[in-house]
Amino acid sequence: MKTYLVTGGAGFIGSNFIHYMFDRYGDDIKIINVDLLTYAGNLENLSDVKNNPNYSFVKADICDKVEISKIFADNDIDSVVHFAAESHVDRSIKDPEVFARTNVIGTLNMLNCAKEAWETNDGFKEGKRFLHVSTDEVYGSLTEEGTYFYETTPYDPHSPYSASKASSDFLVKAYVDTYGFPALITNCSNNYGPYQFPEKLIPLIINNVLTGKKLPVYGDGKNVRDWLYVMDHAKAIDMVIEKGRIGEKYNVGGHNEKQNIEIVKIIIDTIKEMLPEDDERQAHINYDLITYVEDRKGHDRRYAIAPDKIRSEIGWEPDTMFAEGIKLTIRWYFDHTEWMEHVTSGDYQKYYEEMYK
Ligand code: NAD
Ligand code: DAU
Repeated sequence: MKTYLVTGGAGFIGSNFIHYMFDRYGDDIKIINVDLLTYAGNLENLSDVKNNPNYSFVKADICDKVEISKIFADNDIDSVVHFAAESHVDRSIKDPEVFARTNVIGTLNMLNCAKEAWETNDGFKEGKRFLHVSTDEVYGSLTEEGTYFYETTPYDPHSPYSASKASSDFLVKAYVDTYGFPALITNCSNNYGPYQFPEKLIPLIINNVLTGKKLPVYGDGKNVRDWLYVMDHAKAIDMVIEKGRIGEKYNVGGHNEKQNIEIVKIIIDTIKEMLPEDDERQAHINYDLITYVEDRKGHDRRYAIAPDKIRSEIGWEPDTMFAEGIKLTIRWYFDHTEWMEHVTSGDYQKYYEEMYK
């Protein structure tokens, strides 16, 4: 039986990954989820697996050497899947420090603890893998149509978030190059799907449409992001762990580039279509909710992934096209209004009010 140590498993992509893995491998795997439960971590995301004897949760900080080493000492970890991070660009602009701590120091500590546990006299134990989950934002911003991020594109991060992720990628690469450490990196484009915290564009817009709030669009709304359904990202991570070459990085994306304003309009149209005609919310759902607001500082213009390497080397293809994925996502938010109430109360609510007052 293979044992996975998942960091940040109570967050958006981590929790979807845990669901994906148990659906795919059932009792053949064990997952230990280590998460600090920051504002972005929510154990409600994992309520259906919490009683699974092959799943366990440890509340700990990835920067904590003692706690993380203990997990490695108590368990024979085969693969680390490292999601834990501060992930929101706007927060990084307001408070960069925690991004450096979690994303850089936290990753360094995870690398050190795994290295200590896995190192032998002549290298590393057989079959061990450290998959570092990174982002396309490390490549910076594309300006011209028809250009893409390749694995060979030079790093050019602009926000404190992307700079911290780029730093963590370099540390992972340094461990491969220096020690022969068995790590791999994935650089994925924007994810969407169930359990995404409503500070990110898609769940924020869905929630605001449903509750009749303004829809804040930064700048001219023409910034482009390349959207991927979260379960396709989970599948890519699993396949890279299984088939990827140690020391390599793999871009993950499904060629689904859209301007932000297009996304907002698609969500408005789709929600109108999906709600019953006599639903009282129909009356307020229209494009008048769209409000152009001050642009994000240093706002990257366009991201677009070239997924050629993961397709040809690993055989990964996305399964869920955007037209279907956005409906699945909206349906999920329709059905999880309590989840939304829980995550929009407390600290997050204060942050939200400050940003959009
Ligand atoms: P998220 O913010 O939803 O979740 C992050 C999780 O990490 C939370 O559960 C949080 O509690 C946990 N965490 C934060 N600090 C921690 C610490 N010090 N110790 C332990 N746990 C801690 O993030 P997400 O959107 O699920 O992103 C997961 C990873 O994927 C991140 O590394 C992010 O950079 C990367 N990524 C995200 C996207 C995207 O579109 N969301 C795309 C590509 C890559
Ligand atoms: O590209 C991968 C990255 O995608 C991940 O590494 C990050 O963790 C993840 O947060 C995401 O970053 P973005 O900044 O692209 O995502 P966000 O949802 O914050 O914003 C998407 C776009 O929408 C971006 O151009 C900013 C814009 N936006 C965002 C919000 C929250 C708005 O116009 N209005 C908004 O209210």
